[in-house]
Amino acid sequence: MRSLSIAHGPVKVLALLHAALAYDNGMARRPPMGWNSWCTDSLCNLAGHDPCNEHMVISTVDAMVAQGMPELGYNYVTLDDCWSAKERDASGNLQPEPRAFPNGIKYLADYVHARGLYLGLYTCVGMKTCKGDRPGSFGHYEQDAKTLAGWGVDLVKMDHCGYPPGNHTDKELYGNMSAALNATGRPMTFSLCSWGEASVWEWGAGVAQMYRIAMDHLPFFNLPSMAAGQGLGQGTIQVAEWMAVLQPSLWSRPFGWMDPDFLMTLWGGTMDFIASRTEYSLWAMWSAPLLIATDVRNLTAEKASILLNKEAIAINQDALAHAADRLRNDSATGEQLWARPLANGDRAVLLFHSCLPGGAPRTMNVSWAELGWEAGARAAVRDIWAHEDRGVFSGGYTAVDISCRDVAFLRISKAAAVANGTRHSVVPGK
Ligand code: GLA
Repeated sequence: MRSLSIAHGPVKVLALLHAALAYDNGMARRPPMGWNSWCTDSLCNLAGHDPCNEHMVISTVDAMVAQGMPELGYNYVTLDDCWSAKERDASGNLQPEPRAFPNGIKYLADYVHARGLYLGLYTCVGMKTCKGDRPGSFGHYEQDAKTLAGWGVDLVKMDHCGYPPGNHTDKELYGNMSAALNATGRPMTFSLCSWGEASVWEWGAGVAQMYRIAMDHLPFFNLPSMAAGQGLGQGTIQVAEWMAVLQPSLWSRPFGWMDPDFLMTLWGGTMDFIASRTEYSLWAMWSAPLLIATDVRNLTAEKASILLNKEAIAINQDALAHAADRLRNDSATGEQLWARPLANGDRAVLLFHSCLPGGAPRTMNVSWAELGWEAGARAAVRDIWAHEDRGVFSGGYTAVDISCRDVAFLRISKAAAVANGTRHSVVPGK
């Protein structure tokens, strides 16, 4: 049986060595949260509609503020592969698409900053962006870093397309852009998007505060990738499989977060309410950046119940920053157990019914031994999605009727059991 206290051997040593390299310029001590234009209003742009313009940003910012999202931690507003003109200006500077951004980027940054938020912009490590028709930053790293800093940009996402000829490595190229950003003197969050190439988890945290660990997470619950973490994109279950292989607790840390890509909350199709809640739970457990890729101007009650859940956000942002690993996976039943310790001694637990083998609702258990606790301990169980206390239990907890693709997302506390001792219960229940 694997438990939270088990060490991870030589890989752990490697990970600890890299911990010293965290890219700390004051930004992203906790996993970044916010909104990104990509996937908001089209099939991650495959549908050809590009919603990126000044009005969209301003109305999105206004909606975020009106709904209290900044107070919950959602403070980045990022324009993806859509904001720049197709040509640089006469001096070789990046410039925004003039019809979409008539007042320029500095104007937008001021608007965003006045509301206590950060502005993010996208560029590419190579010659062209991934849409293929806009300038990438290769050959212009210092110049672009100065331009972005001069506008007041707070986050730079750097994609992986248009790779330049020659014997370059990702570590060298992203390292150069990181140095160029640093040299501007403006603290910016560097969001490294190399799709998990070149084992980025081993070095990404040394040059960026967040780094993509795979190809795009597309808006499907189950979309098999061609190989673990690779292919043209993948569904939520495949992202979880890849994270289980990588073991987030080894690599994710303050100022250096593994990025499994955007949240496809209630995107439609298989990303329905249950799937979206499961996706959010997994991302919260991994200390992953919580980047919303849906239209926050139309926040339905269902969407709000997922995205604005303070208890789930508290797990994601927990000060111990110990990302969850998968402790148990039964491929015959689809039962998965993910767990992480929290700063106050509590444990966060996710019992996930992947439904890969199909089927009926499952009854799932977590034992205190798996959480690194003695079997006789008494601990209080709180259901994060139901916002309900389940009682105080000895030895473990059993959640019943977890339906296909659903989770029991729990905060389990020995301290709360002492405080709430009168509500002792040994009856299993969800
Ligand atoms: C790549 C990235 C996506 C998005 C698009 C933009 O696919 O992985 O996140 O930025 O490019 O073209």
